[in-house]
Amino acid sequence: MTALRLLQPADAPAYKRLREEMLAAFPQAFTSDAESARLRPADSYADRLRAGDGGFTLGIEAAGELVGALTCEIPTRLKERHLGHLVAMMVAPAHQGRGLGRQLLAATVARARQHGGLLQLTLSVTRGNEAAVRLYEDAGFQTYGCLPEAVRLADGQLFDKLLMRLPLQQT
Ligand SMILES: CC(C)(COP(=O)(O)OP(=O)(O)OC[C@H]1O[C@@H](n2cnc3c(N)ncnc32)[C@H](O)[C@@H]1OP(=O)(O)O)[C@@H](O)C(=O)NCCC(=O)NCCS
Repeated sequence: MTALRLLQPADAPAYKRLREEMLAAFPQAFTSDAESARLRPADSYADRLRAGDGGFTLGIEAAGELVGALTCEIPTRLKERHLGHLVAMMVAPAHQGRGLGRQLLAATVARARQHGGLLQLTLSVTRGNEAAVRLYEDAGFQTYGCLPEAVRLADGQLFDKLLMRLPLQQT
């Protein structure tokens, strides 16, 4: 049994635990690194988890444990407030492949449409991360560019980032 809900600052410790697990398990998928995340205090995630003008984070719980999350960040600068940037898409390994990622993305896009003023969503995804790319394409995201060698791991491996966008029809 899973439950999807808007996360709040009080969820910061659980969010930090999930994020650390994901950064350690999938270093090539994220721009942040696991060691910096480990040193980061839980309450530093409070702003990310406070829904408002700056965006929102949805989470999915299974048996009361946070197992997935996705954040939509909205810039503070006036000329960019029509953009929503999706970051930190993650579903814990034990829960992958069961539709939770698809659910998180659909709910985030739906909420972004209701936010008012958002004209498009953007995200970046490591080239070769087929699960994520297919998920985003299925939701209507299109690749508009690629930053070669965007991410460099501690062992020197370099990965390109695909840049994707989803226009939001305003009615
Ligand atoms: C990418 C991720 C969020 C997907 O979440 P998930 O819950 O496993 O995905 P879902 O079960 O909802 O699958 C949705 C779709 O994604 C694609 N997908 C999922 N797993 C896949 C796999 N192993 N191979 C290929 N496509 C896959 C499929 O299109 C799938 O749809 P389908 O089941 O109808 O075929 C999850 O695998 C994850 O957290 N990965 C590690 C971190 C990461 O890569 N984050 C994205 C950063 S941009």
